[in-house]
Amino acid sequence: MLVRFKKNFEKIAMGLLSFMPEEKDVKKLQHTIKEYEENPSWELYLWKEEDILGIIGVRFEEKQAIIQHISVTPSHRNQGIGKKMVEEVKQRFGEEFKVVANQQTDRFINKCENQTKIL
Ligand code: COA
Repeated sequence: MLVRFKKNFEKIAMGLLSFMPEEKDVKKLQHTIKEYEENPSWELYLWKEEDILGIIGVRFEEKQAIIQHISVTPSHRNQGIGKKMVEEVKQRFGEEFKVVANQQTDRFINKCENQTKIL
């Protein structure tokens, strides 16, 4: 299930975000996590089973919820976690916002949409 990011998840969150190609640089990553902590328009969620296995980050802008980060721990990829995170974000926010991808996430989000036809 998705749980809202809290400061005590910071290290694991940074580890997961660092799998995204544009978050490899430590300075960029620190800036990103700070935005999620401080900017009320940015919301970060973790996928928690027994352990934390994935992360999804959303930025709210007018009527859009932009999925701008998504990552799953390598040992648990290809088991549907990425898709479940996208579906849960759509369930939570889809009525009020149009859930969209950005350039960093569109390849995977488009793949999910083509499979499920949710939007
Ligand atoms: N673009 C498009 N499709 C992708 C993809 C990508 N970057 N990464 C994986 N997929 C595909 C897989 O090939 C697989 O396809 P199949 O079902 O036809 O075999 C499917 O997505 C797996 O779906 P799911 O199990 O729900 O995804 P996941 O839990 O493995 O998570 C990511 C997918 C993208 C979150 C994960 O691969 C990851 O953390 N990648 C590194 C971070 C990253 O690059 N994020 C941005 C992605 S655009």
